[in-house]
Amino acid sequence: MTNSKHIKEDHEHEACEKEYPFHITKEEDRELRQKAAKAIPSPVISQASFFDEYVQQLMIPPVVMDMARKAENMRLSPWEVAAMRKHLSPFKHHHGKYGLLRKILHLKAKADPSHPPYIRVACTGKSQYDYLAEADGHTQKPPHKDKGDVGSPVVLEIWPAQHYSPIHSHGETTGIVFCLAGQLDVMLYDSLDWNAKKLGLTTLNPGQCAWLSKDTYPVHRVYCPLNGGEGKTGPRFMNSTEEFGASFHVYLNEDETPMMPHDHEEHHDDNEKKISHTRNAFDYIKEKDKTKDKFKTHSDLSWSVLRRVLAETELS
Ligand SMILES: [Fe+2]
Repeated sequence: MTNSKHIKEDHEHEACEKEYPFHITKEEDRELRQKAAKAIPSPVISQASFFDEYVQQLMIPPVVMDMARKAENMRLSPWEVAAMRKHLSPFKHHHGKYGLLRKILHLKAKADPSHPPYIRVACTGKSQYDYLAEADGHTQKPPHKDKGDVGSPVVLEIWPAQHYSPIHSHGETTGIVFCLAGQLDVMLYDSLDWNAKKLGLTTLNPGQCAWLSKDTYPVHRVYCPLNGGEGKTGPRFMNSTEEFGASFHVYLNEDETPMMPHDHEEHHDDNEKKISHTRNAFDYIKEKDKTKDKFKTHSDLSWSVLRRVLAETELS
């Protein structure tokens, strides 16, 4: 093989490795998918069709199975999906304004350009951008303009195509990530570190459910692999399509999971005091400088507000 061919291949390899969001080659992608498919316990909850699959499912904690069973019939209805698409559209509506969800994406991208934004919708409590729905004439009187509540145990997340989260940890919570619409990739890591070992990569379709606990799969990165239009994803990327994935997340704090084995050891380590154990805050790796930081789990919208907005959206 000639030297120039070597150099060309090295460059191609480097370019491939630098691709957002997972920074892996095609070969690694394939290997990580195989790893996730064979992992024990399985990172995705499903009905086993043979012995080896049963073994993979067996060690999934009962409390997780309970959460997944309660979620299994949930889907977004076609009109909800159509209205969400309209509010995610990269084009202004006929009255010259962007849809509510696109407006929030612009605000979030401005506040944190280190990764393409996604939208957290709290199913309980108040949220940061509820007031924007009022500006669009959708709600009568959202009473607050503050950052809203933290730590909703149930959250709907809207992932515009090609947008992704940083690597983050769910601390000591136990929970599920249930795909409601579109498609979502979930990369699992063995620790909260930019260079953490990747445990596996899995794609969730509607009705499929991933899970996590403090000991198993608590660190991940989520990405919507659907068509985001022109350009490659990465910092400052904003997609130019209406495509999205949606997921329903449930997080229980340790004292809310009586069926989980409890670790009663006290946390003596000074460093550990800085680590979030409940869903009020999650630790994550900043995309910009690859260091750890804390994300207080404020949400962008409240479900009661978004549902009203969706219901009042004209669908042509
Ligand atoms: Fe997460």
